[in-house]
Amino acid sequence: MSNNKIKIAIAGIGTVGKGLLDLLLKYKNNETNLEISAIASRRKFKVESRKFKNTLIFADAKELIDFDDYDILVELIGGDEGVSKNIVFDALKKKKNVVTANKALVSKYWRELHSLMKKNESILKYEAAVAGGIPIIKVIDEFLVSNRIKKIYGILNGTSNFILSNMLAYDKNFKKILNDAQKLGYAESDPSFDVDGTDTAHKLSILSSLAFNYNNKTENIKNEGIQNVELQDLKIADSLGYKVKLLGLTEIEKKKVKNFVYPCLLSKDSFIAKVDGVYNAIVVESDFCKKSCFIGEGAGAHPTATSVLSDIIRLSDKRINQKKSSVFVKHKEISLESRFGSYYLRFTTDDRSGVISGIANQFKKYNISMKSMLQKESRTKSDRYATIVITTHSCFEKNMMQALDKINRLNFIRNKTVYLRIEDFK
Ligand code: HSE
Repeated sequence: MSNNKIKIAIAGIGTVGKGLLDLLLKYKNNETNLEISAIASRRKFKVESRKFKNTLIFADAKELIDFDDYDILVELIGGDEGVSKNIVFDALKKKKNVVTANKALVSKYWRELHSLMKKNESILKYEAAVAGGIPIIKVIDEFLVSNRIKKIYGILNGTSNFILSNMLAYDKNFKKILNDAQKLGYAESDPSFDVDGTDTAHKLSILSSLAFNYNNKTENIKNEGIQNVELQDLKIADSLGYKVKLLGLTEIEKKKVKNFVYPCLLSKDSFIAKVDGVYNAIVVESDFCKKSCFIGEGAGAHPTATSVLSDIIRLSDKRINQKKSSVFVKHKEISLESRFGSYYLRFTTDDRSGVISGIANQFKKYNISMKSMLQKESRTKSDRYATIVITTHSCFEKNMMQALDKINRLNFIRNKTVYLRIEDFK
């Protein structure tokens, strides 16, 4: 490292910001050449250390626009518009380097940020934006630079994984476990992005853009969340040898890409099905390394701050800075309708003759073949009905959706049929 001080301006002292201050104070390498020239935070915070004695404190991050005394801006405010966007764009235009944990901003302005980097010869790093404590950006950007990546999939949202794992482990419904996740500080203050798949889609868009060198917008990703996953389906899937996980998947084949986010059944033997709780797991398939799996804490102050600090340290070593190209390739999107795979279906029906043949008729019409079937007699106080669970062999999603649409209108169907996709990962 050079002897010159590298000046850092930090914007946002929330969970990750506090984690970063902690790490800066306890950073194992005391010889660091980092100096914190400014901290902008709306909230009051305390740092009692000589390290911060020359630090200017701003109550509003927008004051950083008129501030110039830094080499690296560390943006930890979040949000894809407003002050976080303004200070990041401003810093890159001032030819400063930027480190951010802001997945919404990086995924939304991928193209613009790369153009700014190229034009101003500045660098933006965003390791903390995807899977907090897993260095997946460095894996794709640096380690696998000699490999052709074919597919990336995994569990990218710790909150959803915590909820799905604990619903089953503690026999509680979605709402109760979401409450626990919020109390433990795993879920975002507005947990809707965690549970509706948006957070996973933001992260997937970044991984996909980076791995396949294009501009994959989050809005192109069809995402389904876990908010409608029921405890009984987790239990039935468990008894059939599967775990239910919120999956993010991006894959390229002959310049066509798939980007899907949905809860699905995974065989308990697969790498990522074993990963429970707030942990994230990411599998990267590439031509020479074959299959590489990375597991770690996907959220939380210290794992995420570790990613932030690693980017800062990397940028502060001038020898290893590298410039990214902003020439993107165009790939065609493969729609979810053309997904070819198997399904888990749970029908709630009258318990009478003709039900199975009614379902089977539609399956025949849409070329869907059953793999397994189980029927459970179910009762309310006054009534008897049937719960029928069917898993299928692979078929096209379009056919499955059409068949389910027809089946749901049959007179013996009591509730809208529950479906989950099954992914055949080993
Ligand atoms: N809220 C995210 C999660 C962590 O639960 O994984 C920050 O990306």
